[in-house]
Amino acid sequence: MAQIIDGKMISQQIKDELKERVAKLKEEGKEITLAVVQVGKDPASSVYVNNKKKACAYIGINSLSYELEETITEKELLELIYELNDNPVVNGILVQLPLPSHIKEDKIINAINPKKDVDGFHPQNVGSMCIGERGFVSCTPAGVIQLLKRSNISIAGKECVVIGRSNIVGKPMSLLLLQEDATVTIAHSKTKDLKEVTKRADILVVAVGKPKFITKDYLKKGAIVIDVGIHRDENNKLCGDVDYDSVIDEVSAITPVPGGVGPMTIAMLMNNCVESALNI
Ligand code: GUN
Repeated sequence: MAQIIDGKMISQQIKDELKERVAKLKEEGKEITLAVVQVGKDPASSVYVNNKKKACAYIGINSLSYELEETITEKELLELIYELNDNPVVNGILVQLPLPSHIKEDKIINAINPKKDVDGFHPQNVGSMCIGERGFVSCTPAGVIQLLKRSNISIAGKECVVIGRSNIVGKPMSLLLLQEDATVTIAHSKTKDLKEVTKRADILVVAVGKPKFITKDYLKKGAIVIDVGIHRDENNKLCGDVDYDSVIDEVSAITPVPGGVGPMTIAMLMNNCVESALNI
């Protein structure tokens, strides 16, 4: 029987641990504040942003909401970032992505003070992660590492295959697995014979962005599968990048969708907010 890795439960544990830490910090007179910036009204982004604000409220972190018009200029958004950088009350700054096409995302990310970059997207934080120094780590990959560790799944020496090479998930995911002493392969849309690569994986992390893409033909028997995708299938049911029903009898452990990686992203964001107040 496959182990179902319960991201909902593990993220709740993490949030409860953080809630206690935040309460202690409050007793010492330290408040934590996250600025949440959303440009436009993309419904998916609104759901994510609301969930982040709800998590803040649960843990005891103050959130400041900036809901900006789709038509805001890059310059105006940069000015807000500089203001938040200089605001001593603000510990963390989160700019929900994607941004409208007339605003260059990298320009905005680069403008955030790395010490307030709770998403871990700033090049300074990415560089720190690369060389194993302290800094903010991108929340989804950090959440995957926590899922594995808290499920007593060892990483050292394992063959890990990450499918996807995005700056937010694939690249940092590979580096974090490497940091944990795994042997890591990054596969992507140009990889030749993907099945041959994925069948080597003891741990397969799937971030391809295609619903139910991974079937049992891609797996070694007993593999551990981490599904980063979230989509709606033909019946409007949530599903991942992995065809859960196809693989469930082949895997030794798997993250479900929903209730796997998703809740961990927010828990790790909250963790980064607490770290931001401790001025790492
Ligand atoms: N859009 C999709 N995922 C993320 C995330 O982790 N952080 C931000 N800021 N935007 C996102």
